Amino acid sequence: MAQQVRGVVALSKGAPVTIETILVPDPGPGEAVVKVQACGVCHTDLHYREGGINDEFPFLLGHEAAGVVESVGAGVTNVQPGDFVILNWRAVCGTCRSCLKGKPHLCFSTFNATQKMTLLDGTVLSPALGIGAFVEKTLVHSGQCTKVDAGVPAATAGLLGCGVMAGIGASINTGTVSRGDSVAVFGCGGVGDAAIAGALLAGATTIVAVDIDDRKLEWAKGFGATHTCNSSLVDPVEYIRSVTGGNGADVCIEAIGNPNVYQQAFQARDLAGTVVLVGVPRPDMILELPYIEVFGRGGSLKSSWYGDCLPSRDFPMLVELHQQGRLPLDKFVSEIISLDAVEEAFHKMERGEVLRSVVVL
Ligand SMILES: NC(=O)c1ccc[n+]([C@@H]2O[C@H](COP(=O)([O-])OP(=O)(O)OC[C@H]3O[C@@H](n4cnc5c(N)ncnc54)[C@H](O)[C@@H]3O)[C@@H](O)[C@H]2O)c1
Ligand SMILES: [Zn+2]
Ligand SMILES: [Zn+2]
Repeated sequence: MAQQVRGVVALSKGAPVTIETILVPDPGPGEAVVKVQACGVCHTDLHYREGGINDEFPFLLGHEAAGVVESVGAGVTNVQPGDFVILNWRAVCGTCRSCLKGKPHLCFSTFNATQKMTLLDGTVLSPALGIGAFVEKTLVHSGQCTKVDAGVPAATAGLLGCGVMAGIGASINTGTVSRGDSVAVFGCGGVGDAAIAGALLAGATTIVAVDIDDRKLEWAKGFGATHTCNSSLVDPVEYIRSVTGGNGADVCIEAIGNPNVYQQAFQARDLAGTVVLVGVPRPDMILELPYIEVFGRGGSLKSSWYGDCLPSRDFPMLVELHQQGRLPLDKFVSEIISLDAVEEAFHKMERGEVLRSVVVL
């Protein structure tokens, strides 16, 4: 029988989110119901609320979560009730053209639950990134559940479900940062600081944090930034060149979703370097670049969907690195909040007061 739970819903574009009663069906074939223990507030939730992703309101927000599997449907073998899992939005299909080419980390046809969660009046909800986890229990495809060691608090582990994975992956997977590289990260929110932590893990020696907020730059040092640049005061392109022997960085990561910042990242990159876009642009944004320099500077311009992660490979590995003291996942948790405080958490994010507010249920 469907269960009634409380969840955070964006009913219409730009309107403050509200707490609604959500109907969660019993898991069908291939599905699982997960008791959510923690879910981080990611900027992408705010993009949904602002209508910046698509118009399929109402959205059940939240997608950066960990919890315990409550029940599974027919045919589910990868998890069982009681398992501690991080939810992912890349349940690989195994049969799309990317999976068949051996690139499941880019899967073009990822699985979500087939059944729908609804409001009490039957209105079908669009779960953010096919998850929807600012809610007591959620229905997902079993492939969206990645089992990890239960020894890490849910508020910490859950962050790997989106922003922190996206940032670390932007460095280590998409940017292929390696030992001795110089890296510049533009935008030091949860995603950007995770990119800095990823660059450090990968052995980068120069790591430049760029932001317009000094508080963010201070926090970035705690994740491994060797240099900081307030780009509202100092030209970041000149600054990055000045700390890289006049050359520019090997890898420049844009973690905001702003075409003007992308141009800075493009210009601050060394010859044959790499630009990685992990920030999510709005649909109306246009990027202009000097075409001759796109050719003349060589290298590659890449986008990083979810840090090009393969959850089954990357989540347990990053949890283990955290447990060994080599990845300070807990430092991303700025505050623990309740479901009712998600709207306020969006404002705190906009004011730059937090890296991650995490709902704990
Ligand atoms: N690619 C993916 O798979 C993926 C996954 C998660 C999040 N994201 C996206 O990553 C972006 C960052 O997310 P977040 O949660 O870290 O957001 P956030 O709001 O916490 O951080 C953004 C940071 O950018 C800084 N900033 C804003 N404008 C700037 C400018 N002009 N120059 C320099 N710095 C500036 C802010 O001060 C802030 O520190 C968002 O667009 C989000 O949607 C992408
Ligand atoms: Zn696939
Ligand atoms: Zn996210």
